[in-house]
Amino acid sequence: MRTTVGWRADGPTTPLRRASLERRDLRPDDLAVRVDYCGVCHSDLHAVASHPGGALVPGHEFTGVVTEVGPDVTGFAPGDPVAVGNIVDSCGVCPMCRAGQENFCHEFPTLTYGGTDRHDGSTTLGGYSREYVVRDRFAYRLPAGLDPAGVAPLLCAGITVWEPLRALGVGPDTRVAVAGLGGLGHLAVKLAVALGAETTVISRSPDKADDARRLGAHDLLVSTDAARLADARDRFDVVIDTISADHDLGPYLRLVAMDGTLSQVGHLGPVTVQTTDLLIGRKRLGSAGSGGRPATAALLDFCAEHGVTADIELLPSAQVNEAFDRLRRNDVRYRFVLDLSDLS
Ligand SMILES: NC(=O)c1ccc[n+]([C@@H]2O[C@H](COP(=O)([O-])OP(=O)(O)OC[C@H]3O[C@@H](n4cnc5c(N)ncnc54)[C@H](OP(=O)(O)O)[C@@H]3O)[C@@H](O)[C@H]2O)c1
Ligand SMILES: [Zn+2]
Ligand SMILES: [Zn+2]
Repeated sequence: MRTTVGWRADGPTTPLRRASLERRDLRPDDLAVRVDYCGVCHSDLHAVASHPGGALVPGHEFTGVVTEVGPDVTGFAPGDPVAVGNIVDSCGVCPMCRAGQENFCHEFPTLTYGGTDRHDGSTTLGGYSREYVVRDRFAYRLPAGLDPAGVAPLLCAGITVWEPLRALGVGPDTRVAVAGLGGLGHLAVKLAVALGAETTVISRSPDKADDARRLGAHDLLVSTDAARLADARDRFDVVIDTISADHDLGPYLRLVAMDGTLSQVGHLGPVTVQTTDLLIGRKRLGSAGSGGRPATAALLDFCAEHGVTADIELLPSAQVNEAFDRLRRNDVRYRFVLDLSDLS
């Protein structure tokens, strides 16, 4: 075993504390990565809030540098800058894996933290730490020319909205709305705009209107303004709903155009839907999560080509509890990224 340092939650209400952690010795196809930057995803808050106890180290969107490689690794060498997202292994042989949708692996992909390692059965510990050991297939080359801190959030927030945008054919002829302007939402806006779509933000926060425009959105609809929402009925081919809390889908489905889709990626769990909200206009309700290896690589290429990274506030990792408090209060524009160099 190798030893590193990270930020660990011991239960749902206690602050994260600095702790030493163990990483496995490298398997033949493993990389050791020095973690430099790790994004703070709202899922990290959910994970801690529902954590029954024991070691939980969050963090599933990070960038860093390869420090060591196993003997079978041919694609990476020490010194290579890499990015790692929210899945770190899969069976590799099921139809989903064969189709490049490892995120939907029939055996369930190994999550970057809180997952179960396929070989030794241990619980994975995430990227709020100075070192991570990852199977080479689930590390991605960091695109040259992009800020590594701003790239980190692409690996969860970015890919989670990229897959549905691509699968739903978003492009120059599409009208897209993004509900909830947070980590996922602001990247959905940037990506939809870069894909050429006419893009609108739906937010509770009217003070985000200037930001929405700066991100390239054409408009911002305030979700509490019933008259404007009524005017926007049937307006959008695709609505990407990134809202982090349970909410009524009705008002958002009513904004979807005939044969269009509401992709709910933010709140995962049971929802109640009036079928008439789907029936009228033959609308579709979908969801998505994470991404396969080909789509993740394609996203990084696209972002390099279009200069897309997250809008971040970089904090020393020692301020992780402050980042959590502020994210809970919706006080983030638009992603906290932890700088792990203070753990050296
Ligand atoms: N499907 C997946 O695989 C996947 C991957 C990553 C994250 N997630 C989930 O996606 C959600 C968003 O994550 P994030 O990191 O983008 O969070 P975030 O940065 O906190 O953004 C969430 C946004 O939702 C809106 N919002 C929050 N509470 C709301 C409420 N009660 N009613 C209406 N709007 C509300 C806010 O936008 P406004 O201020 O604009 O209203 C907020 O900025 C989380 O639940 C996370 O767990 C899912
Ligand atoms: Zn995430
Ligand atoms: Zn599989």
